[in-house]
Amino acid sequence: MTSKIEELRQRFNSEISSADSHQAIENLRIEYLGRKGALRDLLSQMASLPAEEKPKAGILINEFKNELTAALDKKASEFKTASVSKNPSEYFDITMPGVSQEAGRKHPLTQVTEEICDIFTRMGFETVQGPQIETEYYNFEALNIPINHPSRDAFDTFYLDLKPQKKNNKDYQWLLRSQTSTVQIRVMEKRKPPLKIIAPGRVFRPDATDASHSFMFHQIEGLLVDKKVTFAQLKNCLGSFAKQLFGSKTKTRFRPHFFPFTEPSAEVDVLCIICAGKGCRVCGQKGWLEVLGAGMVNPAVFEAVGYGPKKYTGFAFGMGVERLAMLKFGITDIRMFYENDLRFLGQF
Ligand code: DAH
Repeated sequence: MTSKIEELRQRFNSEISSADSHQAIENLRIEYLGRKGALRDLLSQMASLPAEEKPKAGILINEFKNELTAALDKKASEFKTASVSKNPSEYFDITMPGVSQEAGRKHPLTQVTEEICDIFTRMGFETVQGPQIETEYYNFEALNIPINHPSRDAFDTFYLDLKPQKKNNKDYQWLLRSQTSTVQIRVMEKRKPPLKIIAPGRVFRPDATDASHSFMFHQIEGLLVDKKVTFAQLKNCLGSFAKQLFGSKTKTRFRPHFFPFTEPSAEVDVLCIICAGKGCRVCGQKGWLEVLGAGMVNPAVFEAVGYGPKKYTGFAFGMGVERLAMLKFGITDIRMFYENDLRFLGQF
């Protein structure tokens, strides 16, 4: 029996080392371990052995069987690893669609803010930030908005229940800024002209929410201070800005307006980008869209920050990011920006 096993073992070893396909390995498995295989033969030959040799032979055959099984399994797994890397399409369906990775993107308001800041950066403006929690001094007083001005009314500003700030021997209430014009004062308090800054950021107003109002929205403020700054420079700066944001054919017009912190002041309109002036729903049949407020810095503002109002002149402007983004993308409801609905956000 031992010599028969040894003979089989040698044959098996030479056959398995030359097996070069999955099928060849399976054939060997059948040839040796199958129902009519070589091991079956050995077992049937056991019957003719003397009784005392049977148990020993049984053990030997069993060990040999385990040896063959292990060798076949090992060879099969080696063969699989090698051939998967050589020919993956035999094992994987490479035509199956993969699991797609959703690419993230910037929020439309961030995109528009960055686009606007880039335009002004190219014109030499520096981007700065200011705090969202402010006091009456920065939000109103230093901007020449007197104590009895209607926009100081509690209904137009969120006041905070904090110990008032003492400044120039007066008490000023804390609040959430209702305009980014506060940043003009913050910067001028710290720095001397010439200045050329823009300040993007959040502002807050206790308005009831509807399709065009939100209690929180975004503005971008601009301020340029130097000697001998003219209104013509302001017109040129904003006209060029509008062309870059809305397209090279964009027309702008300046309408006289009132802002406490600028004199003279203007509201700036662009020829309706939807109907090109013919009149439509978006421009309310007017043909023009109001896009920002602007003007020459009021000397009272320069006085508040200790600049000589005779020495310096400047211009300022402020715009709402949501409004510009709505016009640019044709969005009709401001609330879309804040709902984080991926079906909406995925479109920009
Ligand atoms: N702060 C104004 C607002 O919230 C916008 C504004 C208008 C800013 C005219 C300016 C300006 O700097 O000159 O409506």
